[in-house]
Formats: sequence, structure tokens, C-alpha cells
Amino acid sequence: MKTLITHSPRIAAKFIRKGCICAFPTETVYGLGANAFDENAVKKIFIAKNRPADNPLIVHISDLKDINILAEEITPAAEKIIDKFFPGPVTIILKKNEIIPSIVTAGLSTIAIRMPSNPIANKFIYFAGVPIAAPSANISGTPSPTEFHHVLNDFNGKIPCILSGPPAQFGIESTVIDCTGKFPVIIRPGSVTLEQLKKISKHAQYKRYFSFAISPGLKYKHYSPKAKIILFNKQNFKNIIKSKKNGLKSACIIVSKGSYKRYKLFFQKFTVCPTVFDYAKNLFAFFRTCDKENINLIYCQKVSEKGIGLALMNRLNKASK
Ligand code: TXA
Ligand code: MG
Repeated sequence: MKTLITHSPRIAAKFIRKGCICAFPTETVYGLGANAFDENAVKKIFIAKNRPADNPLIVHISDLKDINILAEEITPAAEKIIDKFFPGPVTIILKKNEIIPSIVTAGLSTIAIRMPSNPIANKFIYFAGVPIAAPSANISGTPSPTEFHHVLNDFNGKIPCILSGPPAQFGIESTVIDCTGKFPVIIRPGSVTLEQLKKISKHAQYKRYFSFAISPGLKYKHYSPKAKIILFNKQNFKNIIKSKKNGLKSACIIVSKGSYKRYKLFFQKFTVCPTVFDYAKNLFAFFRTCDKENINLIYCQKVSEKGIGLALMNRLNKASK
């Protein structure tokens, strides 16, 4: 199959209207989309990604009115989040309406809804004229795609169209929030932080060990490069260097304002991120570059689970398992 690469949301949207799948940029990571009402089109996503059928997809909208079509009821918990964070890097879970084929929600009675803030994504969904079911545009299990060429690497010749755009602004997936109960519960930490959520809903919480029956996707291996990942604390950094085995190609990612130039020598690849935000934004791209360079071991600094640090540690822990 020839893969068309286009900058035009209008041209890309035509593929969705024809029942095909198409990758597109968002502010979090690139998505691989299909018409959420078209069971056959959605099936193509699962096949292309090699995604387990029990892992539900997020439905992307460009107009708030569409929430009423997708969800049975908008709870007060959801309303606050929509007011404050839509459009943006956040996904809400609500009871689903019958109109959505069960393949999208993997048979669950709930549906995940997100309205991206990226203007290219927004136009693409608008021109498609339907809500778009989309997981991240990577082969299941590999690091999420934050740049156009990551999508090309995984899907060139396997999907009919990629809508290209700039690198993702956040680089880490949306925060998934269960809004079916009285208070919002984060089931996947992401670019909107628990602290931000608590400002509008003081009983908001993060459920670290969520039941797989409620969010099946959480049980799968995620975000992993080919290399083995070793997490370390900054205090142990010198020990890491001492204990490093020669003969293996290794890389290191660290967050620091200071100068670490002299440590560069010890690794094939060494990245210093000025802030935790940059660390989160660059992590998946870093993993992919390490794979390209046949790195065997990746040392990643742990961060405190504050702000975006909670989502970053979630991804680092999963990648290191
Ligand atoms: O930022 C993002 O969320 C990106 C962009 C493309 O929007 N999408 C993304 O999709 O990360 P995906 O499929 O890689 O992750 C969706 C997560 C999975 O963990 C899935 O299990 C969960 O959302 N999910 C989807 N529908 C759900 C539902 N009804 N109930 C609970 N969890 C759900
Ligand atoms: Mg994913």
C-alpha cells in the first residue's frame, strides 16, 4: 500500500470519510484515526497496530456538542473538566450511548472522549464530519509517536494516509479521568496534572492500581524501546557511572539545570533536559533514537511524582518492566 503524506487536514479527512484509517498530529502524541461510527474502519486500527481487541479507544471530537451524541449523560464531575480543560490534553470517561459500536469501547459500557487543542487535529476532525476513534499511532507496545517520522517508521506502506504536523507540544498522552462517579478519578496520569484537577475538584484522586476490568489497556506492556531500561536517583548517578559495564552500548537521560558535560564520555548517548516538562516531552523520542542507534541499556533518572512528574514516572515504570 502506498502511504500518502499530506499537510492538508481537508485531504486527510477524505480518507476517514471513505472508511479508511489515517494518522494525525495532536498536542499529546500522534493518533491513528477512523470514523467512530464505522465498525469496519475501526477494525483496521486494531489490525494495523496489532492492538489487543479488549483495549478500548478514545473518541476524538472537534465540537463540544458531540459529547451529547456519544455519552448517555454528562455528570457534574465531567462538566467541570469540560469547562476548564476542553479542548486540551485530557480524556473523560462517561457512560456510553448505544450509537457507538462496541468495538470502539472493547465491549465496555463506558466511552473515552477527548477534544484535542491542536488546531490541525481540530480541523481534521471537523472536515471528517464524524467523531474519530483513535489510539496512539504506534505499533502496540512501542514508544508513543511524538513526531511525524515516528509514525512513518511504524506505518509506512501499512496505512493509506498520514497527516503531518509539528512535533507534539506535550509528548506524553492525555490524562484519562473516570467521570462516571461523584468525583473524578485519574486512571492514567498525563499532561493535565492531578494538582490542576484538584483546583477545580478538591476530591479528585489518582487510582494507581486500577482494576483491569475498568481500564483493560492498563495491563498491557507499554512504551518500551528494545533496550533495557534502568531507573536511578540522581544521588546514585556517580555509582551508576562506576558500575557501568563496558561492551554494552548505553544511553542516559537526566534532568538538570547544572552542567553534566564531563559525564558525556561515559555514554554513547547523553541527554540533559532542563526541566521535568522537557523530560516528559522528549522521553519517547529519546527511546526511539536509542533503538535506531542499537543502544542496549538506557539509564533514566527518576523524578518526584509532582505535576507532570506523576505521568512521567508512570511511563518510566511501565517502560522499565
Ligand atoms: O493523548 C492521547 O490520549 C492519545 C491521543 C492520540 O489522543 N491517545 C492515546 O490512546 O493515548 P491510547 O489508545 O494509546 O490510550 C488510551 C487509554 C488506554 O489505556 C485505554 O485502555 C483507555 O485509554 N481507555 C479507553 N477507553 C476507555 C474506557 N471506556 N474506560 C477506561 N479506559 C479507557
Ligand atoms: Mg497508546
